[in-house]
Amino acid sequence: MDRLDGPPRLILVTDLDCTLVDHDDPENTHLLRFNALWEAHYRHDSLLVYSTGRSLRSYLSLRKKRPLLTPDIAITSVGSEIVYGGGESMVSDDVWEARLGEMWNRDIVVEETSKFPQLEPQPEKSQEQHKVSFFVGREQALEIMKVDVKLVYSNDYAFDVLPRGAGKGGALTYLLEKLEIEGKQPSNILVCGDSGNDAELFNIPQAYGVMVSNSHKELLQWHEENAKDNPNIFLASERCAAGIIEAIQRFNLGSSASPRDFLDTENFHVENLNPAHEVVQFYLFYERWRCGEVEKSDKYLQNIKSLSSPLGIFVHPSGVEKPIHEWIDEMEKLHGDGKEKQFRIWLDAVSSSHVTSDSWLAKFDKHELSEGKVRSCSTRVLLSCQGEKKKLTWMHIHQSWLDDSCSDDQEKWIF
Ligand code: GLC
Ligand code: MG
Repeated sequence: MDRLDGPPRLILVTDLDCTLVDHDDPENTHLLRFNALWEAHYRHDSLLVYSTGRSLRSYLSLRKKRPLLTPDIAITSVGSEIVYGGGESMVSDDVWEARLGEMWNRDIVVEETSKFPQLEPQPEKSQEQHKVSFFVGREQALEIMKVDVKLVYSNDYAFDVLPRGAGKGGALTYLLEKLEIEGKQPSNILVCGDSGNDAELFNIPQAYGVMVSNSHKELLQWHEENAKDNPNIFLASERCAAGIIEAIQRFNLGSSASPRDFLDTENFHVENLNPAHEVVQFYLFYERWRCGEVEKSDKYLQNIKSLSSPLGIFVHPSGVEKPIHEWIDEMEKLHGDGKEKQFRIWLDAVSSSHVTSDSWLAKFDKHELSEGKVRSCSTRVLLSCQGEKKKLTWMHIHQSWLDDSCSDDQEKWIF
């Protein structure tokens, strides 16, 4: 939460499975649209929070399979754990865990719940210190839920027993209180969900809420019974991440134009002097070039040359240094080579800061998927605002491999 100096413009809290992530779409179409939107227009002044029923480990394994951006905060195990940051540096909130521990005795919960033979324990990997989970049918769940701990039923099969203060709503309330103490109350809150364990999120006062179109009937029923007169909660007409983008537009929370939907391949300067938008658009253009989705025309190569300084150098992650314009020439032979390979690029954690009054250093992780394999580079771009027209010019690019991304196949990596 320290990444921003001031209050966030928006705090977007979203469930993962079947909300941000569409398991019926192996191509991640709307997730990638959301990613481009977030990095171009929100990352610099807003907070992204994931709130999931998954354990931390299971969430991290989802991140390996899907192009999920690095959140500022991850609430895992149905609100029983809060972790700040993602990727390299993740810090668990011990105060929250201690607070949950005060009124909770896991052994008693396990013993008491064992008296209900209808409850079939979920596998050991889904059990946590502050979460005891079962599988059970709907009718039996309603009967058992009369006892006094927090009981959450999701997707017509998952039954979680939690400390009373836990749950996705409890964890978010705690985080909002922390932000208030730090003087960082968000201007807007948007919560996003699809199933029973998300219902509590929609009880947060002042929050806007979206139930994605593929929401489970238990969430719709909860809404009917508890929140149907709240104009700030709505059922999207679109699935998963597309429903989240729809909600951003409906509640007027900021731009809802994903660069993936509005890429002007010839002019990246629609929104002047936004380095984050500029880099997101450049890489989308590059993805489309590699996929042969823009025609193989010299005018495009000349156009992107005009975005960069003839003196500009790109330091390739292999260590090879050449003028940016020479690398652009090399793009010619890669036109269309990604077509059959499900080639996709997404940028993560884009930040930019002034180096001088008219130049910026943009930093981000660039991920490139090709034939099911993801390679990643930490990237720095120096951009300068030059000339009368106030356009951004790429002055210098530097990349280094992240994790174990370095490979023999380096000539197919440009930019
Ligand atoms: C996730 C968790 C599971 C939990 C369910 C509902 O699927 O893996 O343990 O019961 O969410 O919260
Ligand atoms: Mg879900």
